[in-house]
Order: sequence, then structure tokens, then C-alpha cells
Amino acid sequence: MKVSVKTPATIANLGCGFDSFGLALPLYNVVSVEETVLPGSGIEINIINEKNNTDNELTDVATDKTNIVYKAIELLYNFIGQIPNELKITIKTQIPIGRGLGSSSSVIVGGLIAANELLGRPADQKVLMSIATEIEGHPDNITPAFLGGVTMSSWEEDGSVIYRKLPWNDDWKLMVCIPDYELNTEISRSVLPKEVPMKDAVFNLKRSAMFVDALYNKDEELLKLALKDKLHQPYREKLVPGLSDIMNNLKHTNGVIGTVLCGAGPAVLIVYNGINVSEIKEIVTNSWNYFNVKCNFMNLPIEKEGASIL
Ligand code: HSE
Repeated sequence: MKVSVKTPATIANLGCGFDSFGLALPLYNVVSVEETVLPGSGIEINIINEKNNTDNELTDVATDKTNIVYKAIELLYNFIGQIPNELKITIKTQIPIGRGLGSSSSVIVGGLIAANELLGRPADQKVLMSIATEIEGHPDNITPAFLGGVTMSSWEEDGSVIYRKLPWNDDWKLMVCIPDYELNTEISRSVLPKEVPMKDAVFNLKRSAMFVDALYNKDEELLKLALKDKLHQPYREKLVPGLSDIMNNLKHTNGVIGTVLCGAGPAVLIVYNGINVSEIKEIVTNSWNYFNVKCNFMNLPIEKEGASIL
């Protein structure tokens, strides 16, 4: 038996919600898991760059038991007191890797749902969410990959994940600006301080509350304030040359609601409300040109659906 699961790309943090908020995008990875018939054939992992997307450098992705999809599936098997023996895992990727678009969460979630199906669904969504978060290290990409839409999540001390879906006003458009280089999440987390000033914590605390209220009440002025951050973006600016220029240059551009780093970067998300696309693109292109960075733009709606079995 073979099970394939399609899972969306995601953007985490969304400014103020470091490790908490996330949203899904209509770009997908597909993970297939099958138990191979021949005993002793072991674990086989294949990774296929589906769109022949030259931006996707897959040579660094492990195809042995250190692969994150395998590690997640192994935890699920352990949860029911088993270990995986013969498995073939195929990962078809469309989501650019190392850009802050949740490629790792997407394949972890896809692999877990597929393996759970293969095993006769021993785990419910909460258990799968906890296992996925344990592998990923934070739940903000995992939750929208599972559920679609915009989400908040919290990884609790007992290992469980508290999560909710939030509404989104479809008048608020998304432009994802993807630069031509990768940024490793571990490196991007290593520049963050262990402790932050109380006033910065309070700044983000207030903005997280504003973010939720802005979404429920379609309050654009509040969202403008909410899409700001003092906990991670200021520290990551040095890893994303041009980020502060893009943010400053777009601050007063008509129609721009906010500009944030996508997850750990280096892609940038612009939330806007009009048709002012060409001016926004020009500002981003010029800001990155100065640093010799080329960029791809994607105007995408929110993906409302989460991972699905094909
Ligand atoms: N919240 C995470 C971070 C997302 O900003 O490091 C990246 O996986």
C-alpha cells in the first residue's frame, strides 16, 4: 500500500508572532510513503525536484535515516511501540528550500499523515502535531501546513500543541519576494539573543493581541501596527542584506499594510490592499539590486486547505 499526501508551503512569524503565527500558501510538496514488499530492503528515500526548479538545491537533503521525514515517521512508529523496517519514502518538492517558506514542515507533516494512514490511523491530529513539532522545533509552520489558512500555535511544556485557525480578510493580498540565495534556519536562529529587553517583549505582546483582533475585525489600521516586530527581525537584518531598506522604503508606499520577514528568512512577505503591485516590485527590486540580490515575486492568495491525502 502507498499513501501520498500533498501539503502547502507556509510562512511563519508574520511579524510580531515569533514561533506562534503562520499562514499557508498554494505551493505544495507531495510525500508518498509505502511499505516495501521485500523484507530486508530497508529504508529508501527519494527526493524529486518536481518543477525542475533550479532554485531548489536538493543535494544537501539527507536520504538516509537522518532525513527529517524519516525521523518523524520513526517517532510515529515508536508511539505505537514499533520501528519502521521496510519503507520507501518519496518526496516531490515544489516549495523552494531555505527561503522561509516552510519546506521542511511541509514534508514532515506530509510524511507523518501518510505513515499514519498506512498504519491504520493510530494517532489523532493532536499527536501528529506534537510529533511534527518535536522534529521541527517550533509549531508555527507545522500548524498551517496541517490546517491551511492563518493559524496561531503554542508548543506547551508537556509537548502538546495548542492551535487555532484565525480568519483572514481576502482584500489583504500577499506578495512573496524570494531572493536568489538560501538561509539556513539554524544559522538564522543562532543570531537571536537568549534574552530580550522587557520593553521589546511588551512591544510584541501588544502587537500579537492587535494581530488577532485585526484579523477578527478586518481592521486594517490595527494590522498595520500588528505587523511589526522587535524580537527577531532586527537581529536577522544582518543575515538578510536589504531587508531594512525594503521595510523602510515600503513604509509610506500607498496600499502597503506591512512588510515582514518570511519565517527565518530570507524571503520577504508584503501584505497590501490594492493594485499597486508594480511600484512595490520596483522598490523591492531596487533595494535588493544594491546588494546584488535577484528576486522572484509571487502574488499568492492564502491556501485555505491544509494537508490532504491524494
Ligand atoms: N519561527 C521560526 C523562526 C520559523 O523564525 O526561526 C522558521 O522555521
